[in-house]
Amino acid sequence: MDLKDLRINGKRLRSTLEKMARIGATPGGGVQRLTLSDEDKQARDLFVRWLKELNLEITIDEMGNIFGKRPGKNNDLPPVMSGSHIDSQPKGGRFDGILGVMGPLEVLRTLHENNIETERPIMVVDWTNEEGSRFAPAMVASGVWAGALERDWVYDRTDINGKRFEDELIRIGYKGSTAAKKWPVHCYYEYHIEQGPMLEREGKKIGAPKGILCLHWYDIYLEGEANQVGPTPMEGRHDALCAAAEMILKVNELPDRMGGNMVATVGEIQNYPNSRNIIPDKVHFTVDIRSWDDDHALKAWELVRKDFEDIAARRGCPIKIEETWRVEHSPFDERLVRRILDIAKGLGYFSLHMVSGAGHDASYMNQVCPTAMIFVPSIGGRSHVEVENTTWEDCEAGTNVLLHAILRSANER
Ligand code: GLV
Ligand code: MN
Ligand code: MN
Repeated sequence: MDLKDLRINGKRLRSTLEKMARIGATPGGGVQRLTLSDEDKQARDLFVRWLKELNLEITIDEMGNIFGKRPGKNNDLPPVMSGSHIDSQPKGGRFDGILGVMGPLEVLRTLHENNIETERPIMVVDWTNEEGSRFAPAMVASGVWAGALERDWVYDRTDINGKRFEDELIRIGYKGSTAAKKWPVHCYYEYHIEQGPMLEREGKKIGAPKGILCLHWYDIYLEGEANQVGPTPMEGRHDALCAAAEMILKVNELPDRMGGNMVATVGEIQNYPNSRNIIPDKVHFTVDIRSWDDDHALKAWELVRKDFEDIAARRGCPIKIEETWRVEHSPFDERLVRRILDIAKGLGYFSLHMVSGAGHDASYMNQVCPTAMIFVPSIGGRSHVEVENTTWEDCEAGTNVLLHAILRSANER
């Protein structure tokens, strides 16, 4: 068979994704597979079983990253890698992450059943904790692997119940013995749903992002003074939740004040003691700032940080600020991005050159080797929600683009 006529099996891909979607399925049609939870373990076990069926060489490293390697004709050559994540948001969707792991798995199944050998080895990977919603920050395991984050710092991160990352990794049986340390990689492709509205709006099937915005995460801790809400006069209160409320609106106004080219969000808040008749004395909330321009995002932070300090002083609520995590914006390899646009065209798909507002492990992989991503449309531009959806036809189309991108790179000498 002429390699250019090779196609993945769309029906098999669909059935694979449907099997995964049963693990942690939510009543609203989504999935909840929080990092290092029982559901994450169950999905990993199934993934490993499927890797074994293809006789892949399996490695699980000390961050719980799972790699499946298909040998090439020349195993001294660095491999082509492709993957994403199995974990999900709380009440997340059935496609975010998992499509980017099942996609390359389907590519390997296609090569396997057609007895196609490639020059270089090909590796599929599941990166631990891409989402960062149970254990902040996100993309930690590709971050450690790439040498950008400290392993032990990540091990000590705790969830809302005080459980440690490393303890949970051990509990689910996925703390491997191999060091999480980068090796030479020829190139990395990450296949993902767009998670935004652009492809649908433009009537395009395939997106080829030129890169990913920078991501800056902060954690804010406020203290107030608790008291009975009835007898305590309004004057002289130190209400930590009111201070947080003012701060949250400052974050929401930030992109406008900065003249655009950024998004800024408070997505998580804990209020204590969280009783309707007690003045709140402790609040924790998060800030997420993203832009293509790292300096712009840093200037925005300086501005809003000053606002936070002013509000905290005026309301008599001491503030503690943690600058939790920063990843610089990631411009992808232009040659690979062009390759994806070319392949999409050759397969008869209209494509869009765009940017990724969502974070991906590809940001850290981009620090290790030439990297690019393939996007398919998200219906209604909805993601990180149970109604997240992508047509099976689009899942198949994107996987065919991935197949040919991997084939071209894996046959480069
Ligand atoms: C990852 O899902 C992110 O964009 O926050
Ligand atoms: Mn994702
Ligand atoms: Mn996500």
